[in-house]
Amino acid sequence: MKQMIIEGQNILTGKIDIGGAKNSAVALIPASILAKGKSIITNVPNISDRDALIDILKILNCEVTLNDDELIIDTTNLKNSLIAEKYSSRLRASYYFMGALLGKEKHVEIYIPGGCNIGSRPIDIHLDGFKALGARVTIEENKYILDADELIGTDINLRFASVGATINLMFASVYAKGTTVIHNAAKEAEIINIADFLINMGANITGAGTDTITIKGIENRELKGATIKVLPDRIEAGTYIILGALIGDNLTINNIDPTTIKALTDKLTQMGSKFTIKDNSLTISKSPNLKAIDIQTAVYPGFPTDIGQPMSVLLTQSHGTSVFEETIWENRMGHVPSLNKMGANITVNNMTATIKGPTPLKGCEVIATDLRGGASLVIAGLIAEGKTIITDVEHILRGYENIDKKLQQVGAKITIKEI
Ligand code: EPZ
Repeated sequence: MKQMIIEGQNILTGKIDIGGAKNSAVALIPASILAKGKSIITNVPNISDRDALIDILKILNCEVTLNDDELIIDTTNLKNSLIAEKYSSRLRASYYFMGALLGKEKHVEIYIPGGCNIGSRPIDIHLDGFKALGARVTIEENKYILDADELIGTDINLRFASVGATINLMFASVYAKGTTVIHNAAKEAEIINIADFLINMGANITGAGTDTITIKGIENRELKGATIKVLPDRIEAGTYIILGALIGDNLTINNIDPTTIKALTDKLTQMGSKFTIKDNSLTISKSPNLKAIDIQTAVYPGFPTDIGQPMSVLLTQSHGTSVFEETIWENRMGHVPSLNKMGANITVNNMTATIKGPTPLKGCEVIATDLRGGASLVIAGLIAEGKTIITDVEHILRGYENIDKKLQQVGAKITIKEI
């Protein structure tokens, strides 16, 4: 098990380079099996979710080569095999192999996905979409078996604009007979990145990034291996931007796409935070007297749920009472007890947190409960007086590449050690 040790209150200055988006990379890697041959994915983040997916590709007899942030995947000798629970349960995104293997092979056997403990995380929207395309779904204890004699394109109306279901149904329909239209599709920036990869392979997809995505099934030919670059991680960027608003001195966050973090930057402006955006960089410094503000998370382009927990730390230092309402996940307040233990004043009622500030924070021992909750504890430790020890940091390393090194480079006193 790994622990993070942080000495707080060091002003952070300099540059942080943002990596490729976890929530795109974890779909692009499974997508590679939709094509026959060699695909190259660049700007892949150095995170443990990447390694978990590479292990699954190897079970499927794919040849995988990782050169720094470039992943080369050769699916020529793909062998459709059972994806055992010890692999599928390591992350939520293992379920993208459902759509990819169903789409490519019309058969998949995979155990239940894992992922952060932020809610019940059902996959009914995915399964209903697969059935609409003609798949039979059998659930044996924790194992899903999906198969189809043939997949027929159809209209699919998502009851919720699910990111995962949108992506999985794109995968399942690229080879279907006829046209599939996904209505109420998720519009996250990552969806466009993933659709571009499939289009580069030869798929016929239009509308990615809007709420209606049309996939025309390709007849009698195979998708060919292609190249794609993972887009910048807007959640990693948002996490470090929030840190800059708390304890930065001209902290520059590089390799961002400012259009994908507008919901955050708009809120920061309303709170009185001062920052500048130039091309694909944002420079921010600690702003005194930040104003409390109300926030409600929403599907893209609303305020991202994944930035909510880091944002709650900024609200503990803002002047006044903020009301933070989480609307996507029913259990995304796991970090609150640790923040209150450090001196925050947060009361939670179901999915709403009332945050009174500013409250000075004091370092202490805390436990990461999930990826973004863990990131919020890193932020809290970096602004707290004294030492903070965070246990279970594996949660954090799933989604923040080289977080210790990136922070050390801008002046943070942070180390990770095995215990
Ligand atoms: C993706 O999860 C992200 N994960 C999440 O980021 C992110 O919070 C979420 O999208 C929303 O933006 C990855 O991309 C790997 P959803 P996903 O399907 O696809 C309900 C992080 O921190 N739902 O959009 O699983 C679900 O319970 C992670 O990086 C169903 O009810 O999210 C939730 O309430 C955490 N049935 C809501 O929809 C379904 O079949 C959003 O889920 C699917 C979802």
